[in-house]
Amino acid sequence: MLAKVKICMGTHCTMMGNLNLQENLEDLQLEYPGKIEIEAVKCLKFCEDNKAPVVELNGKIITNASAEKIISEILEVVR
Ligand code: FES
Repeated sequence: MLAKVKICMGTHCTMMGNLNLQENLEDLQLEYPGKIEIEAVKCLKFCEDNKAPVVELNGKIITNASAEKIISEILEVVR
């Protein structure tokens, strides 16, 4: 199945690591050609209450999105 990933590039999420995350996901995208779509989006409005960084994966909002957490969720979708 295709993994559609929206990475929040709002100020808060960017400061909390989403720029790094984007680079990691671009590497992952090379390993799974045609299976991962990455889109950088504006603030998803979930950044209050220490929930940043935020990523949306196939419509599901994932808060406190560490690279490990996101990559393992993406792998479940694409494998
Ligand atoms: S900056 Fe990412 S949810 Fe607001």
